[in-house]
Amino acid sequence: MVSKPSPSADVVRLAKPPVGEEELAEIREVLESGQLTMGPKVAEFESLLAALAGTSDAIAVSSGTAALHVAVLALGIGPGDEVLVPAYTFPATANVVALVGATPVLVDVDPLTMNMDAEDAARRVTPRTKAVLAVHLFGRPARLEELPEGLPVVEDAAGALGARRGDRPCGSLGSIACFSFHPRKIVTTGEGGAVTTSDAGLAEASRSLRHHGWSPSDGYVDMPAPAFNYRLSDVLCALGIPQLRRFDELYAAYDRIAAGYTERLAGIVTTPTTDPGDRHGWQAYVVQVDERDRVMEGLRAQGIQCQIGTYALHRLGAYRGQGSFPGADLAFERALALPLHTGLTELELDRVAEALDKLVSHH
Ligand SMILES: Cc1ncc(COP(=O)(O)O)c(C=O)c1O
Repeated sequence: MVSKPSPSADVVRLAKPPVGEEELAEIREVLESGQLTMGPKVAEFESLLAALAGTSDAIAVSSGTAALHVAVLALGIGPGDEVLVPAYTFPATANVVALVGATPVLVDVDPLTMNMDAEDAARRVTPRTKAVLAVHLFGRPARLEELPEGLPVVEDAAGALGARRGDRPCGSLGSIACFSFHPRKIVTTGEGGAVTTSDAGLAEASRSLRHHGWSPSDGYVDMPAPAFNYRLSDVLCALGIPQLRRFDELYAAYDRIAAGYTERLAGIVTTPTTDPGDRHGWQAYVVQVDERDRVMEGLRAQGIQCQIGTYALHRLGAYRGQGSFPGADLAFERALALPLHTGLTELELDRVAEALDKLVSHH
């Protein structure tokens, strides 16, 4: 039998978490301690994260989706309430609102920034509106200060660890924020998430919600309402701790790769930006192109992994019938996520840029 050549030899990978020996050593410590959950690594992970997010509290949970679910419930949102959510986002943003019995009211996005359009948000406020769930999409800080006044803001900062609006970290800008540690994020625990807040009441509510509803959250005195087991184990927190410790270095590496793309791709495709003075979180490097599907297939045919940006919710069965969202349509049709990880070489960046240049100019 003739063995096939390795298919991975020449592939430019979309993502590749930069984890190794330091993480293994930290995990080994947990395994040797015998305390695999509710131990010291959770607290250490949380305090490193709170420092990066600029909040007094961080509450580790089992996914970014769990973090969103906890945040919405901590704010007391439920049946009869409406929450503004962007029409272009990962569906979990809206799903959690629907799953607590409230109505996710879709708001169009600015087709260039791909974040919530503040004017459209203002138009969709009703007396039932209880909060705005704003996304820093792909890590680009959203203009939260332009959103309708007087409503609590939940930040979906799933991909915005390290991002800053001016000098303020994403995760500290609203009432409560949600992070994800899925493998396509700069810091990953495989699966994982966290809520950050500087509001003591929301922090305690979040701790209780992730731990069955116990009150107080670290005691077993009463359970005023049922809740979940959304805890993140010490094993997974240990995986995240070294990454949080070397975050500045990790972020700088992503920022260098992003700058390398922007330098090569200016004038070829629409490259991602921030507002002046902001810092991008680089969860993904998402360009915009005409005929995105043809370009995506063309890159893949050359061994360059790539992916659509994210989803237009009004095109999904769960969220049809709320009208038209031209900004979200444009973003959905044009956004293309390029390979982004710290192992990318200058030669690979050249290869991606050259392939894109050919694909967008010759058709
Ligand atoms: C904007 C946004 N919100 C929420 C999530 C959900 O995070 P998780 O996959 O950790 O549940 C993601 C995940 O990719 C996301 O990109």
